Amino acid sequence: MINIGMVGAGAWGRHLLRNFANLPGCRVKTVCDLSEKVRSNAEAMYPGVRAVDDFDVVASDPEIDAVVIATTPETHFKLAATTLKSGKDVYVEKPLVLKISDGEELIELAKKNKRILMVGHIMVYHPTILHLKKIIDSGELGEIYYVYAARLNLGKVREIENALWSFAPHDISIVLFLLNQEPVSVTCVGQSYLQRSKGIQDVSFMTMLFEDGKMANIHVSWLDPNKVRKLTVVGSKKMAVLDDASASEKLRIYDKGVEVATDFQTYGEFLSLRTGDIVIPKVDSSEPLRSECLHFIKCVEDRTRPRSDGVEGLKVLRILASAQASMENGGVPTRL
Ligand SMILES: NC(=O)c1ccc[n+]([C@@H]2O[C@H](COP(=O)([O-])OP(=O)(O)OC[C@H]3O[C@@H](n4cnc5c(N)ncnc54)[C@H](O)[C@@H]3O)[C@@H](O)[C@H]2O)c1
Repeated sequence: MINIGMVGAGAWGRHLLRNFANLPGCRVKTVCDLSEKVRSNAEAMYPGVRAVDDFDVVASDPEIDAVVIATTPETHFKLAATTLKSGKDVYVEKPLVLKISDGEELIELAKKNKRILMVGHIMVYHPTILHLKKIIDSGELGEIYYVYAARLNLGKVREIENALWSFAPHDISIVLFLLNQEPVSVTCVGQSYLQRSKGIQDVSFMTMLFEDGKMANIHVSWLDPNKVRKLTVVGSKKMAVLDDASASEKLRIYDKGVEVATDFQTYGEFLSLRTGDIVIPKVDSSEPLRSECLHFIKCVEDRTRPRSDGVEGLKVLRILASAQASMENGGVPTRL
């Protein structure tokens, strides 16, 4: 039985708490949160869980094996470093941290203390993303040309990290996972409208370019009329559209493409459009967060490397930092 300590049980942390409290193989012993309301809710919902306001109670408890961090990102580094130094495994919500040097230090600390460091890149545990990955890897879509994603909503407006750092970790982790490649350059433009004096961008459009010519564009915003969670993958043989806001039928595979003839007489023969069937694969509808939490427990038990470990977290962090640099530089590409 793995004993868990949680820190941060706010808007997102309460979902992690619900999952860990109901998983086999672990028990949530302590929840730490600065908010009285959050602490009393946690104790009321989960009798047997102790709620505290001092993180040292969690870090110094020899019975706690692993700590789950779901506080606001600017606090992640200190809490995760303290956890690793006290000899416990750690799960940190995305974004891992806000500075590359802090990410590098956490990876070093995990290595030195032989501890598990996992980042909450939930999308790489999403059954529909796993299904799409299988389809891409099987070659069904052909050569992947480009990918674009939109993650839009009205809210939640944050006051420290911008929409890029809040939302794009999801889509960046998806792109790295699906393409199994890292970009060579990142371009980004964005604007702050709601908190101009603080320069916190509400919306951004970033593009990653890959060595072999692939391209991935990510549009994120918390200032948009509609909730959109869409990803389109365009391949040489077929195309895929994943709509995560749809309750069912999240994935569609379009047998559409353009054939380029090598031997042709007229312009009409040079390019021919192909529109075939649209297939909606049946995909398991289990909760991605549950799969992610189960994966963490399994890694802690088996001492294995998480799919979204510190190294993956650092890759995403480097791309975010490059996008931020490009955005602050008027959209000039940043080389990685
Ligand atoms: N994976 C996802 O889909 C997803 C979705 C939303 C948020 N998140 C991530 O989850 C994290 C938390 O976001 P949120 O929306 O729940 O924020 P939130 O502000 O609602 O909750 C944060 C909680 O942490 C507590 N807290 C802050 N600092 C603390 C400290 N030093 N010690 C103890 N408690 C502390 C606060 O009191 C609050 O209850 C962020 O990293 C965010 O990016 C992930």
